[in-house]
Amino acid sequence: MTPVITIDGPVASGKGTVARHVAEALGFHLLDSGAIYRAHALACLDRNIEFNEINVLEEQARALSLKFVGSQVWVDGRDATALVRSEAVGMAASTLSAIPEVRAALLQRQRDFAQAPGLVADGRDMGTVVFTDAALKIYLTTTAEVRAARRVGQVAAQRQRDAADSQAKQLIAKGNSANIASSPESLEQDVDPELARSVEAQIRQRDAQDKTRAVAPLRPAPDAIVIDNAAHRPEQTVDAVLALWALRQLR
Ligand code: DC
Repeated sequence: MTPVITIDGPVASGKGTVARHVAEALGFHLLDSGAIYRAHALACLDRNIEFNEINVLEEQARALSLKFVGSQVWVDGRDATALVRSEAVGMAASTLSAIPEVRAALLQRQRDFAQAPGLVADGRDMGTVVFTDAALKIYLTTTAEVRAARRVGQVAAQRQRDAADSQAKQLIAKGNSANIASSPESLEQDVDPELARSVEAQIRQRDAQDKTRAVAPLRPAPDAIVIDNAAHRPEQTVDAVLALWALRQLR
């Protein structure tokens, strides 16, 4: 049987980063199951499908045209990586993923990722529903405050990159490329408290939706090892997961 490691946890718990590094270290395949739900949500939003049209939502889940190209996510034949990562699509995915018919329609697509030499799967129900026989189950957790601070940092960093990018484009347009400031420090800004509050509110709302839904709610599998990811740097969490995996091989 293909070895599977599941890494579940709430939004911005760091599970994606940990899963990616563990998969790289072991040479395993990687499944970002959230990206599948996000791709489905994007396809439904694009088609203006009403969120109460269960049959159409289910049909769209079965017909979903989705391809992972390295770290890119392609939906309906176009690179939708940035779009699927937006908070609006994440929230829509959270709402649509509470519909049992949608989950059922996307189940086999996720299981198909379990191929030799192994799989690291991250999401909400990898250990409780999709890969119940997984050899190692991890549940990452941290408080909503810590996760919000992290997400705000990511948003601020993205804004810096966008600002640097647009500054570079303007200078290139003016034929002034020698003056492009490559130092991101020059663009550094304090984290906007308003942004921090709204991100934390979004995280709490998505947590509540994901944890209270009737089907496949977010919770640790009974046989999952729970790691508080706020207490360590990401590389320490990765090392801990790899050490646990090595121990499993000795059994
Ligand atoms: O992990 P993420 O933020 O990319 O996931 C987006 C939404 O998709 C999440 O709020 C709930 C849903 N989801 C799910 O229901 N089950 C999964 N295994 C992964 C994600």
